[in-house]
Amino acid sequence: MQLLQRLFETFHNAGRELYLVGGAVRDLAMGASWESLDDLDFATNALPRESLELLQKAGYRTYDVGIEFGTVGTIIRGPASEGYPKDVQVTTYRSKEKYRRGSRHPVVSFGDSIDEDLCRRDFSINSIAMDAKGDYYDPYDGRGDINRRTLRAVGDPLERLAEDPLRILRIARFMAKLGFEPDAQLEHAAYAKATYLLEIARQRWLQEMNKLVCGPHAAMALEFLARTRALGVILPELVALVGLERRCPAGPSHPDFWAQTLKRVERAGKDRNLSWAALLADVGRPWTRTLEPMSEDVPGPILSGLSQEAYPQEPAQGAVTSFPHHQLMAGLMFKGIARRFHFDNPTSDHVSFVLSHQRAAIGYDAHSWGDAEVRHFVRDMNGEHEAVIAFGKLLGPEEPKAANADLDGLAARIKALGESGQLVPELPKGLGGQFIQQLGLKPGPVLGELIEQIKQDMLDGRLGFGLDVEDYIAHARTLCLGRP
Ligand code: CTP
Repeated sequence: MQLLQRLFETFHNAGRELYLVGGAVRDLAMGASWESLDDLDFATNALPRESLELLQKAGYRTYDVGIEFGTVGTIIRGPASEGYPKDVQVTTYRSKEKYRRGSRHPVVSFGDSIDEDLCRRDFSINSIAMDAKGDYYDPYDGRGDINRRTLRAVGDPLERLAEDPLRILRIARFMAKLGFEPDAQLEHAAYAKATYLLEIARQRWLQEMNKLVCGPHAAMALEFLARTRALGVILPELVALVGLERRCPAGPSHPDFWAQTLKRVERAGKDRNLSWAALLADVGRPWTRTLEPMSEDVPGPILSGLSQEAYPQEPAQGAVTSFPHHQLMAGLMFKGIARRFHFDNPTSDHVSFVLSHQRAAIGYDAHSWGDAEVRHFVRDMNGEHEAVIAFGKLLGPEEPKAANADLDGLAARIKALGESGQLVPELPKGLGGQFIQQLGLKPGPVLGELIEQIKQDMLDGRLGFGLDVEDYIAHARTLCLGRP
């Protein structure tokens, strides 16, 4: 706090006001410690250039956040035990803020007073200021709402959401993080303005949704999005999952897929990619639902499953609803969702892979899987085996097969095989050259095939790992003899 006193004095000595505002004050009011706060937002009546000069004259090294939006940044260094370094941003009071359609940056005009600055903020819990003495200035009773665990708009909720419709997702994000409920007026405004989300830059959707899916109360946040129709705006594919089990009249009853999804997202915890996969694991079901028997033929059922009209109203006796290859469908659908939300390509590929292979690990059986099966699994998972195992564990409570699979045991076996160099077949350096010399082969596809076959034999356990070069040559010779 002492280091921050210097910051307050820097502004006060120049006759300027400075208040701590935003998330840090909310978190302090909720009982967080100073040490735990990494980002501190301050508001001042100094204009941006003056803030820059004041900070620089006092010896702070500033960095550019966007002086045209009124913000100057600096890092305050100090003892790590007190939670330093802290990122500090000083922003000139704003009077109103509007985001141009699809833009990531607000159009701002500067205000004169802390009251003007606080009244344009979103929720009462985010509109509390703190002065140099540590006293709260709380004109909208944000601390009362914290006690009531309520999200309430500052002023007219319809206006607040219309001026920045991203706030609909912010409501859900704070629900997910804090477990607070919006009051009736705010929820009604979110319902009324849900389609305004379409005006918002998709990167801003992603920032909020990334936080939401990792929140400990993500289920209530997602239900809020579904109730207010915002889910249909940002993730219409998921809306089709709500009540799907009631639209599966044939065969044994199905679980409430949406309820399962909500629980699964919460179980995924703070791992962002796992949480997205948990959210979308069943998204392929409505689009693959069929009365046809399960087919091994992959592309066919996906395409035929797309035809909802083909689903009979009166299923024949004995018919069973199934969702053939819905996992693969989820993986494909995620690619489209990832483009919409501007995921980066590696994350999009990663989550899509986990969705497509969501059940790959739960087939693990400690008795029937030898080292060869474990190696095959790792190879087929293409570097994603840890994520696929983590996803398999997540399925446990709703899927007896997953609950019974000893997935920690599988992970331990993979680790042990890796440590003993028996996981991924690797051949001694220069072995190709030896094959050319000693077996009279020429460089080209035949040599390539031979090397691949040797690796396959190691994978399958027909040939050991870490053998002498001579042993590999002897094995290659027997393979060559078997060739036509
Ligand atoms: N704010 C707002 N409307 C928005 C975004 C932000 O009124 N659409 C205000 C709120 O007062 C908020 C502050 O700006 O507390 C800072 O916003 P942000 O940096 O997004 O952080 P918080 O939302 O407070 O939360 P956290 O720091 O936990 O991410």
